[in-house]
Amino acid sequence: MSDHNQLKLTQINYEPDRPKAENPVKVEDLTLRDGHQSLFATRGRTEDMIPVAEMMDEVGFWAVETWGGATFDTMHRFLNEDPWERIRTLKRYFKKTPFSMLLRAQNLVGYRNYADDVAKAFVERACENGMDIFRTFDALNDYRNFETVVPVIKKFGMHFQGCICYTLTEPRLGGEVYNLDYYVDKAKDLEAMGADSICLKDMAGLIAPYDVYEIVKAMKATVKPPINLHSHFTSGMSPLSHLKAIEAGVDIIDTCMTPYAYRTSHAAIEPLVMALLGTNRDTGFDIKMLAKINEVLEKEVLPKYKHLLDDTKVSIIDINVLLHQTPGGMLSNLVNQLRQMDALDRIDDVYRELPKVRKELGQIPLVTPTSQIVGIQTVNNVLFDTKDERYKMITDQVKDLCYGLYGKTAIPIDAEVQKKALKGYSRGEKPITARPAEVLEPELEKAKEETKGLAVDLDDVLIYALYPVTGNKFLKWKYGKEEPPKEVMPRSLEDALQDEALVRKARAGEVVPKDQLEKAPTKSENLRTFNVFVDNDYFEVGVDEVGGSPVLSYLQQMPAPAAGQVMPAMPVAPAPAPAAVSVPAAEPAKTEAAAPAPAAAAVEGTPLTAPMPGMIVNYLKKEGDSVNEGETIVILEAMKMENALPAPASGTVKAINFSSGDSVQKNDVLAVIG
Ligand code: CO
Repeated sequence: MSDHNQLKLTQINYEPDRPKAENPVKVEDLTLRDGHQSLFATRGRTEDMIPVAEMMDEVGFWAVETWGGATFDTMHRFLNEDPWERIRTLKRYFKKTPFSMLLRAQNLVGYRNYADDVAKAFVERACENGMDIFRTFDALNDYRNFETVVPVIKKFGMHFQGCICYTLTEPRLGGEVYNLDYYVDKAKDLEAMGADSICLKDMAGLIAPYDVYEIVKAMKATVKPPINLHSHFTSGMSPLSHLKAIEAGVDIIDTCMTPYAYRTSHAAIEPLVMALLGTNRDTGFDIKMLAKINEVLEKEVLPKYKHLLDDTKVSIIDINVLLHQTPGGMLSNLVNQLRQMDALDRIDDVYRELPKVRKELGQIPLVTPTSQIVGIQTVNNVLFDTKDERYKMITDQVKDLCYGLYGKTAIPIDAEVQKKALKGYSRGEKPITARPAEVLEPELEKAKEETKGLAVDLDDVLIYALYPVTGNKFLKWKYGKEEPPKEVMPRSLEDALQDEALVRKARAGEVVPKDQLEKAPTKSENLRTFNVFVDNDYFEVGVDEVGGSPVLSYLQQMPAPAAGQVMPAMPVAPAPAPAAVSVPAAEPAKTEAAAPAPAAAAVEGTPLTAPMPGMIVNYLKKEGDSVNEGETIVILEAMKMENALPAPASGTVKAINFSSGDSVQKNDVLAVIG
């Protein structure tokens, strides 16, 4: 152990007025962003951050992470919250502690590179709304993608923290690509760009204690900016790595408040405070204050989110991360995706294919969005490839990657895969080597034009520019042009506690909804589904004929359609057996308004079915268009990736069954070609 960290043997106490350490470890708290993003799918609401905000402001954190990453997407899409408003609201409670956000460089807070005009406007607005520290990363560690955003951060006098995404190809640091030199060189690049601090971003929890020791030592010897370690707990190694990094002289460590810590999140702050107490790296934090914050989170906030916590496993450590060197979030996405496609038994094939696909795609780091890009393509390969043909269904994002739209990959992309991906690619078949955003047309004016009469200010326009489909929906909710669905509304603590009590009782076998069970007959195979339209309401009704008299089997109110909008054909209610559906009810006004998949069978032709559940981004063809086999008909977003679905046959588009923003299930008929 280095003598820097020798315990002082006197005056060790808990009190915040204890003697100040020579070189206290600075701490960034991640509870309000990465914490709930990692554990609760980023569903944390602003109202649930306020109860602890003022206390957290007193702790003495170097920074609190409050924004960025997936918050922007989730807030407007699932929480009916204006993401910009969160910064302004929290700023009223945090008067001293700087705010940090995770900025995906040219990807901003989305999943693709945006044009320079959008990138500049976004960072300007983030600065003006109250963001102080911009933790900036690029999924490929291609710092040309920093060139647009960094000057804006600097112009506003804010803190530019440059990230190096940590990734491995071997079980430990080393190998051809991601070795010690790689990380030190990247730190030098960031220093040369004017980084105010450098973050080693270990998003998958892969960094091993002795490797981080080497890296931090080497960086401290080579570059001047403070070094910040961001390491997820996922594999269980991060508390060990924290300590070794501290011994190597790391300046800043990222942690979470206890209820938001561990699993795929981060190590908790309290053990670190205690471990360093009385050393020359003592944080100086008041542990009693931390305990008070935790109590509020535990009792008043967490009951609302517990149901989102993955409690299917007792273990809080994901062994797969150690085995496969891939981010935990990515693996759970893969598992979910396979489950939705009834192909969970192929998971081992996916594990086998993954390193292969990654290498062919340029051995890129696995972090949003590249983890999804590699992950989805791997699943596609496993499910759709044949013996004679690999990469049968290439996602649009892989095509973009092969074109160079994400940046330079760590090693060249496999020539054959690249050629196949770029065949007929709209931007051209020859990949680019320039900074990706060079080839992007400005996007901001178009977004302003398209949101005229809806967007009130630039912040609104940016929500749309980043997320056209869901952003448009959100702006309609925000300005009362459309009623937000029940699912996006907040849940009260009382509701949450009641639900929890019910679940507890049910688990203990104390709840038997006998009356209901006895009264409700089981659904027979004669069950038929009717769509019932009452003014602006729409119900899906299951009717079961017993002994000649119809029995109402279930009644499901569907979200009211907006004028001109097509109903999402999502069977929320117990799904009727497809064979029974003939939709003999009142002739729906449009074919689009018809029930799920099989309804489209009324139209003769070859159906284009959804290969996986997802959301329709847009159709590139309309009814009556003639198409060639293989031409893209519709873009389906699944697992945050856009998939171009090709025409299964040549002919005329006979039916288009959904529209932009609709959710679809696997096998829903999206279009019919006749
Ligand atoms: Co993180």
